[in-house]
Amino acid sequence: MTLKSCSAGRLLVLDGPDGGGKSTQAHRLLARIRRAGFRVRHLREPGGTRIGERVRSLLLDRARTEMDRRAELLLYMASRAQLCAEVLRDALTRGEIVVCERFVSASIVYQGIAGGLGAGIVEEIGRFATGGIAPDRTVILDVPAEEGLARRGKSKDRLEASGLRFHRAVRAGFLRLAREIGPRRARVVDARGSREAVSDKVWRAVSDVLPRHHRS
Ligand code: TMP
Repeated sequence: MTLKSCSAGRLLVLDGPDGGGKSTQAHRLLARIRRAGFRVRHLREPGGTRIGERVRSLLLDRARTEMDRRAELLLYMASRAQLCAEVLRDALTRGEIVVCERFVSASIVYQGIAGGLGAGIVEEIGRFATGGIAPDRTVILDVPAEEGLARRGKSKDRLEASGLRFHRAVRAGFLRLAREIGPRRARVVDARGSREAVSDKVWRAVSDVLPRHHRS
């Protein structure tokens, strides 16, 4: 039996290209879900456990330029496996509404599609790492590569062409993934516009998957 069939909680994932405002929107969404009367939990990948935080610092260590793509993928998956086993599975079983910034979708797009390892193999490794935990809804906060990078404080002209190409491939990859998995599992939200307007759209993109008796 998979976890989803016995779980009372919900897993909502916020993902998308860099600079889409995931953290801001995660906080706003959590506040809204809490106001609707649910127990919530905020998670962010990579990290969220002691082991995961150590993996995170390894992954984000810019000096590690020699890291192989497969090694990188497996480190993201290792952090994810630990998070699922140590935190996420129990939270969902207890009926919590979990908002997670990034999940397997990020590996599919960054390592699988833009990074060239292949979406299929990443998906398969993702199923193994998560033990079958899948999001009830993934919201892709969509922003064009140039705008997203500018929002992250990286000036356009200082970016190498290959950097921009990669981020364009990331954006296209998220849109392709959303199309392929369909509107029941994923929604694309235009992340441009005011925080309030975007958070209204995010709310509308997830409210139908919240348990019925609480839905506002
Ligand atoms: P952040 O933007 O959520 O802080 O994530 C940090 C970077 O890690 C971001 O550029 C996306 C990248 N990433 C992957 O490449 N693969 C993954 O599986 C995850 C979770 C993140």
